[in-house]
Amino acid sequence: MENFIVSARKYRPQEFDTVVGQSHVTDTLEHAIENNQLAQALLFCGPRGVGKTTCARILARKINEKDGSVSEDGFAYNIYELDAASNNSVDDIRELIDQVRFAPQVGQYKVYIIDEVHMLSSNAFNAFLKTLEEPPAHAIFILATTEKHKIIPTILSRCQIYDFKRITIEDIQDHLRKIAEKEDVKYEDDALYLIAQKADGALRDALSIFDRLTTFTQKNITLAKAAEVLNILDYDQYLNIADLAKANDIPGVLSAFNEIVKKGFDPHIFIAGLGNHFRDLMMAQNPSTLNLIEVGEKTKEKFALQSKNWSPQELIDAIEICNHADINYKNSKNPKLTVEIALMQLSSLSVKGLDSKKKSS
Ligand SMILES: Nc1ncnc2c1ncn2[C@@H]1O[C@H](COP(=O)(O)OP(=O)(O)OP(=O)(O)O)[C@@H](O)[C@H]1O
Ligand SMILES: [Mg+2]
Repeated sequence: MENFIVSARKYRPQEFDTVVGQSHVTDTLEHAIENNQLAQALLFCGPRGVGKTTCARILARKINEKDGSVSEDGFAYNIYELDAASNNSVDDIRELIDQVRFAPQVGQYKVYIIDEVHMLSSNAFNAFLKTLEEPPAHAIFILATTEKHKIIPTILSRCQIYDFKRITIEDIQDHLRKIAEKEDVKYEDDALYLIAQKADGALRDALSIFDRLTTFTQKNITLAKAAEVLNILDYDQYLNIADLAKANDIPGVLSAFNEIVKKGFDPHIFIAGLGNHFRDLMMAQNPSTLNLIEVGEKTKEKFALQSKNWSPQELIDAIEICNHADINYKNSKNPKLTVEIALMQLSSLSVKGLDSKKKSS
């Protein structure tokens, strides 16, 4: 059987220009290499799974390739990776400092990647300080961390700092499309959007969700399946509830809600999500706010269509009702009832509208 390689490893970029969404970092690094302005100590900061280790490795290879003499295996010897999460003692750092003194046998530079550097003990940090301040000419240090605030100022001030960003939903979605095509995975575009959204800026997370769904759906990722696996309420459920509420169908709304709870969804998350749905409908009413909705394109069209049935005032009331239930949920002795009351109010909104019109006429 062919070994399965997870996508995060299989598609780790080998070049700066295939790194997604970090051009502010990769361009700067590329220029620094070209102009020989690269510092000897660099600090890569940013959230999990956005390309820090990846860029450290590309950089390490580039600077050794630059002098042209290094073969594929040659450079591998010049890159040292230390995971500070599991090697955080002062002895680990001393061992590293001892190695640093010797010039490389091939290539010009020895590159030390110290991952999760915030995990070093304070003694280890201090032992490291001197080397970082006056490293031998052949040594380059790339420190990576998700927690910049835990790095002591004396280290920070000795490093050139690169801030990595969370990757946008669109960039992640686009990346997933390319991989799906390479892997012959069929997909609904909105399903990839949902994955990207769930990944919360981390490309690694997006890839691992993608792998899970690829297996689960036997290479046919639909929005419904993605929502099921990610335990997210399908947009269609909210669309349905909103339609029922608009039709003043109280029994219909209550049974739909009951079905959702039976499937194991938390009523609190449900009502907050419904509030967000009405917020999205509000945004969908106007082209200038349409792009403030974080859903895929097809879903956006559905929202725009549904939003036509609601008046702006009704939507404001609906958002308020949901928000009220959301706030009171935790303090209620019967939180499920709190949600049900909100649903009944939502289903009476347009009736109320009629009442007040009658009164005023
Ligand atoms: N910007 C990116 N462009 C392309 N692929 C990426 C990017 N960021 C992450 N990935 C994918 O995710 C995997 C993990 O990325 P990487 O190890 O570089 O993350 P990291 O920022 O070092 O995360 P951590 O803080 O958890 O160490 C990579 O192998 C790659 O497949
Ligand atoms: Mg890393």
